[in-house]
Amino acid sequence: MSRTLIRGGLVITAAEEIHADVLIDSEQVVALAATGSTVAEGWTADTVIDAMGKYVIPGGVDAHTHMELPFGGTAASDTFETGSRAAAWGGTTTIVDFAVQSVGESLRSGLDTWHAKAEGNCAVDYAFHMIMSDVTESSLKEMDLLVEEGVTSFKLFMAYPGVFYSDDGKILRAMQRGAANGGLIMMHAENGIAIDVLVEQALAAGRTDPRYHGEVRRELLEAEATHRAIKLAEVAGSPLYVVHVSAASALAELAQSRDRGLNVFGETCPQYLFLSTDNLAEPDFEGAKYVCSTPLRPKEHQAELWKGLRTNDLQVVSTDHCPFCFSGQKELGRGDFSKIPNGLPGVENRMDLLHQAVVDGHISRRRWIEIACATPARMFGLYPRKGTIAPGADADIVIYDPNATQVISTETHHMNVDYSAYEGKQVTGKSETVLSRGTVIIEQDRYLGRAGHGQYQTRETCQYLI
Ligand code: URP
Ligand code: ZN
Ligand code: ZN
Repeated sequence: MSRTLIRGGLVITAAEEIHADVLIDSEQVVALAATGSTVAEGWTADTVIDAMGKYVIPGGVDAHTHMELPFGGTAASDTFETGSRAAAWGGTTTIVDFAVQSVGESLRSGLDTWHAKAEGNCAVDYAFHMIMSDVTESSLKEMDLLVEEGVTSFKLFMAYPGVFYSDDGKILRAMQRGAANGGLIMMHAENGIAIDVLVEQALAAGRTDPRYHGEVRRELLEAEATHRAIKLAEVAGSPLYVVHVSAASALAELAQSRDRGLNVFGETCPQYLFLSTDNLAEPDFEGAKYVCSTPLRPKEHQAELWKGLRTNDLQVVSTDHCPFCFSGQKELGRGDFSKIPNGLPGVENRMDLLHQAVVDGHISRRRWIEIACATPARMFGLYPRKGTIAPGADADIVIYDPNATQVISTETHHMNVDYSAYEGKQVTGKSETVLSRGTVIIEQDRYLGRAGHGQYQTRETCQYLI
């Protein structure tokens, strides 16, 4: 069994920051001891990594990705192989992707399809949530089986009528089932029925540019759906996790309910923290690069989202990584914004953008690790195997250089997509060395990993309830 020793770095977890050496045996962390202490000095290892002047942080846990997702007549351009490799480059060592149940299909069949896509292809560890598009007596029963086997969260959609959409009755039934079996309901909270009316009216009036995608997906309709989802969860007595929160008024709904002691949680994404409707309005159809749902909002929302992250009214930052190339994919919507496939790339950028938020003073270093590593792991039943550095945890560790500077660009990124949503943005901080279960997979700008190193992770139920 090989032993690895990480010496001299500042170990940062959600709970503490200490100058410590980290001892790894095979795939797991076995001990931490203060740097320079007699205990640490006595350790020997096959490989010693010098982390002096660097941060030693848990590998990122990105709880919202869509590799190879079929959407809008095309499919997300990252495969599990390319997308998970890009995750590794960006310091993320676990992804939780969304398996899809199509209408008329069983959950089992959808899940099997996603296992087949991912198995043997991932550079980092992976798990699945289940998208429920068809809430029926039999799929409700299947929820119980999935929870037992470690797929413990289910995404439902109040948006996309005719595709993923569930009405309130179906949502309530799924929530009741989740309350009984421990499955966490994740909600895409936008009033899709009303949005479709506004889409039709906008197109009929000749408003076809990408920016109208943002205008018809009104903030009010995100807030209304968030409110309704919370009330349905309260009726069902189930916890609720609202994905990709972009609007300040939707966040206010979550905050008010949390103040009442409800187990409602919210996730936001880097695109809502760093981008805005200004991007959607970029000329020459460039705005299509920023079409996602929920949509980007006016800049003023960003301060509220940062505040929500500081006050823990938002608990998680995931990417909702769902890349489509500009050429040939986003272009499907020239002349009709409703045909632009929804989604942005970002799995490689999340840890660095959030470190930039530390540099900019929005969040503390520990909060960075909490929202990007520890809480997503807790929320989705992977903690403490993932999301922290502690004896017994998987040795998913990033040696992070807080002083390195980099310019985010499609020229240098590893995601399989022909543009970057953050093109030209300079950030301070970079993953220098990345270990996944004790194996070095990134070292000094070289990829040393392999497709198939990443293993499927079964999950416990939510470990974050009040
Ligand atoms: O625009 C987005 N978010 N695309 C991915 C699907 C979803 O709703 O998460
Ligand atoms: Zn969604
Ligand atoms: Zn998504």
